[in-house]
Amino acid sequence: MPEKQPTADEPHTANEPHAANEPRRAHEPHAANEPRPAHEPRRAHEPRRAHEPTATEPIRTDGGRVTEATPSIQEIPEADTVIESKDLTVHYGDVQALQPVNVRLPEREVTAIIGPSGCGKSTFLRCLNRMNDMVDAARVGGELRFRGKNVYDGDVDPVALRRRVGMVFQKPNPFPKSIYDNVAYGLKIQGFDGDMDARVEEALRGAALWNEVSDQLDSSGLALSGGQQQRLCIARAIAPDPEVILMDEPASALDPVATAKVEDLIDELAEQYTVVIVTHNMQQAARISDKTAVFLTGGKLVEFGDTDRIFENPENQRVEDYITGKFG
Ligand SMILES: Nc1ncnc2c1ncn2[C@@H]1O[C@H](COP(=O)(O)OP(=O)(O)OP(=O)(O)O)[C@@H](O)[C@H]1O
Ligand SMILES: [Mg+2]
Repeated sequence: MPEKQPTADEPHTANEPHAANEPRRAHEPHAANEPRPAHEPRRAHEPRRAHEPTATEPIRTDGGRVTEATPSIQEIPEADTVIESKDLTVHYGDVQALQPVNVRLPEREVTAIIGPSGCGKSTFLRCLNRMNDMVDAARVGGELRFRGKNVYDGDVDPVALRRRVGMVFQKPNPFPKSIYDNVAYGLKIQGFDGDMDARVEEALRGAALWNEVSDQLDSSGLALSGGQQQRLCIARAIAPDPEVILMDEPASALDPVATAKVEDLIDELAEQYTVVIVTHNMQQAARISDKTAVFLTGGKLVEFGDTDRIFENPENQRVEDYITGKFG
């Protein structure tokens, strides 16, 4: 059976089939090019400094104008920031899909991205691991910093970046391979030579799927239910031990029971990973996220902050109208 190739709309996860052909430049000094060795303790040497005051000037999400300032953005101190955008823009041809976005995303928390259809949520998410590289018409401006390094610098290897910033898509997209091989895929590409069985089990347990598939690891991933396939894709995304997991409406194709499982899983993943999730479902955003970013039509990030505050007391009238269902 021919290998399924990624498309611009639905690129595979961090484990892209062409990764093996793109050697990593191992000695580059930049953070975004240096995947953390798989078993290195997670930033044990970098204790979280949660209560340190913000050292830098506050960043506004309004690209310099004061009409829709979002002062709450100051609440993410630099020390807790894993991803930071600076005047990040995206154009598709002549059409500007993202107005300058300035935001910091906190480490090991869940950030939900909400907003009406076409407001640029997927476009923003795809910037975080350079998936927009695969969209011919897309042109990215400004900066997107991952651990301080602009991932759009010329010396950043996008394949190495995607090992650290993995992705799960709206439609479950397992490879036409066994369950085991789906999970092992990215590790094999990385040349992982440790205990593969243990890593596959660990990833499947991490994705809350192990108990359902442990006796059928050789069966095709495509034979699983939709909800199981999505958890298999999550296992595939976490197997290479990324630091950030991006999810674009990961539960929108699932029934309520499977959705609840994926939501529980996201909650657990956030203990270990930074999760950025696009969702159309307000209740879901309110349930699972710590922080919420609201984009509105025109590709503008108009509000960012604690999820509870945004849902209970948004600063922006248009955000209130959106989350109370007046439009969108
Ligand atoms: N490949 C592309 N080529 C041209 N325009 C695009 C492309 N992808 C997205 N756009 C445009 O960019 C804007 C933002 O699209 P995007 O897919 O990011 O929105 P979204 O908020 O994710 O919407 P949805 O909720 O429907 O998924 C839209 O106007 C869309 O038409
Ligand atoms: Mg989208």
